[in-house]
Amino acid sequence: MDEGTPAVPETPSKPGSFEQLIQDLAAAVKCRRIYPPTHGMVQRTFRRLYEDLRLLFVDQEIVRIGLVGDDLVGGEQPLSRVNLTVQHLIRTLQEREIEKLSFHRGLQEEELARFVEFLSKPSGFLGGWRETEEHLQLLGIQRITVGKIWIQPAEEQVAAPAELGEIYRGSLRVIREIIEGYRAGNRLPISLARDIVHSIVRSIHDDPALLLSLSALKGHDDYTFTHALNVSILTVAQAKVLGLKERDLDAFGLSALLHDIGKQQIPLEILGKPSRLTDEEFEIMKRHPVIGAETLRKISGLPEIALNVAFEHHLGVAFRGYPRVGRKWKLNLCTLLTTIADSYDALRTNRPYRPDLSVDQTLEIMRQGVGTLYDPRLFELFERVVRAMAENEKQQVSGG
Ligand SMILES: [Fe+2]
Ligand SMILES: [Fe+2]
Repeated sequence: MDEGTPAVPETPSKPGSFEQLIQDLAAAVKCRRIYPPTHGMVQRTFRRLYEDLRLLFVDQEIVRIGLVGDDLVGGEQPLSRVNLTVQHLIRTLQEREIEKLSFHRGLQEEELARFVEFLSKPSGFLGGWRETEEHLQLLGIQRITVGKIWIQPAEEQVAAPAELGEIYRGSLRVIREIIEGYRAGNRLPISLARDIVHSIVRSIHDDPALLLSLSALKGHDDYTFTHALNVSILTVAQAKVLGLKERDLDAFGLSALLHDIGKQQIPLEILGKPSRLTDEEFEIMKRHPVIGAETLRKISGLPEIALNVAFEHHLGVAFRGYPRVGRKWKLNLCTLLTTIADSYDALRTNRPYRPDLSVDQTLEIMRQGVGTLYDPRLFELFERVVRAMAENEKQQVSGG
């Protein structure tokens, strides 16, 4: 993290961007802490904050900021520049146990001002986010809501597993058709893939843990199809917990589903080899990200991030993977999530050359890649997602 300068007003990013919103919120809170409400600085930072939100509301009804570990996430990206002012905001939110902050369209200036005021007060008199929520209601703040990023406990789940099982198996059939057809030289039917992903997003909406546990179904179908589907589910689940909106969940799910599409042009002898690859074979295998991105570039109507994810998913946060990129390269959030989901599923799945791993063993192995392959905060979040999933599986086995 960058320490930055302690000065209050921040250098502008793009007005109306999440980055700017977070920085202006931090600056407004900090200014209000130091100066009275009539002070010019307080007014200026507040105006900027209000303007950011106004711009963001143009194409979204709810503007969400999430706090994952020590990192603020808005839009599709974790905040890249974190100065002292933003660190104060992070602490302020942590003290109040706020992990999710939602601004709803129609928010009045008055409400926003009261909210800034509220955050600028010492938190000593407050409990967790529930208390914060009640407090906001008392203050008449209705269009700003707070919450915790959490995973639904297994006992609260209501959907019928059989129905979800059908969704999973149905999706698998379609993915098989898509990928086999594509390998045989047909075009990639993106609209079909899009439909599957949308049904994943919809079913994960109310019962994240339940659908997640389906991603543990393995071994019966060809690895390629289950892997694509599982990585998509695991990516959507993480994105969902981060508070991303439905349109982004669709885009993330589709990008994750197609992350390995480049493998379809790798010879089957290498792809399906039951033993470890030789160095030479591995060099060929390493081409699949570039091939994938090139394949997807030719298809219109795909979200831009699908190309990034195909290209970047083996890079890792320290860029020690492949393909080679410059040090200034910036991975997008969907890639960060897909890389985690990808490793997890690849490790969990029963491969001919090694035995099946448990959830704990899988996470233990993955932990060695934190900081080089995986973003530490996102990995922590993923562990929570997966543990909830494992809990759910256990409940089902024990007669739930
Ligand atoms: Fe891959
Ligand atoms: Fe993969």
